[in-house]
Amino acid sequence: MNKKSNRSFLKSEIIISSDNHDNLWKVPGFLLNNQEKWAQTLVKVYQHPMSFPGSVSPQMGNLLRALILNIEPVTVMEIGAYIGVSTLWIASAMAEYTCKERIHCIDLFPDHTDNPWCPGTTLINPKDYIARNLRNSHLEDLVKFYQGDSQLVIDKAAEDFSSAIDFAFIDGDHSLAGCLADLKKVEPYLNEGGYLLFHDVFPRHCGVDGPFQVLQQEIASRGNYEICQIYTSPLNFGFALVRKLSD
Ligand SMILES: C[S@@+](CC[C@H](N)C(=O)[O-])C[C@H]1O[C@@H](n2cnc3c(N)ncnc32)[C@H](O)[C@@H]1O
Repeated sequence: MNKKSNRSFLKSEIIISSDNHDNLWKVPGFLLNNQEKWAQTLVKVYQHPMSFPGSVSPQMGNLLRALILNIEPVTVMEIGAYIGVSTLWIASAMAEYTCKERIHCIDLFPDHTDNPWCPGTTLINPKDYIARNLRNSHLEDLVKFYQGDSQLVIDKAAEDFSSAIDFAFIDGDHSLAGCLADLKKVEPYLNEGGYLLFHDVFPRHCGVDGPFQVLQQEIASRGNYEICQIYTSPLNFGFALVRKLSD
């Protein structure tokens, strides 16, 4: 059989879905009709003008939730919470297997006054906004916030881990330098068999190429990771699920 390297499988783009999003994520029935508190909170957060396109879409969130439900990670890190959409999806899953550990949630949490994607929209203190939404969903005990540059606060968060990281969602600084720095900072804490999930891995669709370059230049060239790029709907910003096979 012809053995190919991981690198040859990496794709930087595919054909975009034609779903009409109308500058808000269209909330699908599976979320609209879910009467759980966290689901109804998410429906409201998806109506916030800043949720598009910076937050994971409902379809991607549902996939993120399914990954957490299946992997049942104990120690989870999230780099880049923004207005808390992905945080809610992760926490909703962790609540299902009564995980005692909290999500270690890192962001600069800046006041948003000039968001380039929705000029004129303001969100002061996004950490409070996220905390309020988690409280409304009865999920506040599952999240611990660390405010600051990920390069400075990841080590601080690690002091609170009960075990090595099983699952890290990397969705912070999307430049090559920033994304690479996050990978390097998280790696020493990542369990063997642990997962990294990168967001925005198809540059043509999401408009940034840091995560793709990190996959291509750094992770694919090593022998100790496996990578699966996942096409996503309704816009193919993409996920890449990376599993560490050995140190
Ligand atoms: C695309 S948004 C995250 C979206 C979120 N994961 C979701 O899907 O709902 C990126 C976030 O990363 C944060 N960020 C960017 N650079 C960072 C850094 N160096 N340290 C910590 N957070 C950072 C930004 O403040 C922003 O909130």
